[in-house]
Amino acid sequence: MRKKVSIVGAGNVGATAAHWIAAKELADVVLVDVVEGVPQGKALDLLEAMPIEKRDVAIAGSNDYAATANSDIVIITAGIPRKPGMSRDDLLHTNFKIMSDVVQKVVAQSPESILIIVSNPLDAMAQAAYRQSGFNRERVIGMAGVLDSARFRSFIAAELNVSVENVTAFVLGGHGDTMVPLARYSTVAGIPITELIAPARLEELVQRTRDGGAEIVKYLKTGSAYYAPSAAAVEMVEAILKDKKKILPCAAYLNGEYGISGYYIGVPCKLGAAGLEQIIEIKLTPEEDAALKKSAAAVKELCAVIGV
Ligand code: NAI
Ligand code: 2OP
Repeated sequence: MRKKVSIVGAGNVGATAAHWIAAKELADVVLVDVVEGVPQGKALDLLEAMPIEKRDVAIAGSNDYAATANSDIVIITAGIPRKPGMSRDDLLHTNFKIMSDVVQKVVAQSPESILIIVSNPLDAMAQAAYRQSGFNRERVIGMAGVLDSARFRSFIAAELNVSVENVTAFVLGGHGDTMVPLARYSTVAGIPITELIAPARLEELVQRTRDGGAEIVKYLKTGSAYYAPSAAAVEMVEAILKDKKKILPCAAYLNGEYGISGYYIGVPCKLGAAGLEQIIEIKLTPEEDAALKKSAAAVKELCAVIGV
């Protein structure tokens, strides 16, 4: 039997995630949204592309959560995106209300599912979903680090004129201005980038990574990035559905790892069939450790505002 992935929020990120899942033939897909007709129309349009793409997956859209019953994974993208001048944190109250409503309905239909949270502000929304679902931390994971790392990787590949396949990079911390790109653990074909890019230029690439979301919002004006974010969420889906034991930077609930307890923050995670199967603890320099703690403090502040 094919796996089933439901996506709540059939907007830019949600619909494009459906596209990647179908194109990779990973699972049947259900799109859900509050707007009538939108999930149905986008799902039907995508379904009609399947004979061309030669992919056998069922794709359906609905405004009713009954359609999501017994999903293996539910990606939550419901909410409002940023507009120019807005920070991710400006979305807090609106998206918290939406997340609360969505999680309750998702859990009622798919009590055994794994939740991948995308809505912003990411770390606080993951924490809200974790608290409200009652799921263990293995089954509520936030997507941000894969996206932030992919941005860093693409900038490094362009700078050095090498294949993106040669570049690995890790961005930890919260999904915001305090994110922590770890240049020391970033490599090109195994060579640390600190040996290939001068410190001042590397700092510019790090800053461009931190500003990566805002750079796209400034161009688009009416919304935020969605191709790379949806591809990032689907890389997590694939790692789980194929039990790949893949190590990816994800937002996870920390229980003392990295000296942080009780909050979601981006750390290296092993993803497999059980969801979050392991948090990998890597050695940080005092500066990196301080940056991660600063990031966690920013997440803590947001969580306090919404009481999660
Ligand atoms: P969008 O506006 O294109 O889509 C959001 C969809 O959510 C809309 O179709 C809307 O009707 C729906 N929605 C609103 N309330 C709902 C509810 N109660 N139940 C079901 N659906 C509901 O926005 P986009 O670009 O898809 O972004 C979605 C969210 O993901 C935003 O909060 C954005 O900031 C966040 N995001 C997070 C990223 C990350 O790295 N974690 C990256 C990109 C976006
Ligand atoms: C991004 O980083 C908006 O969080 C989203 O593009």
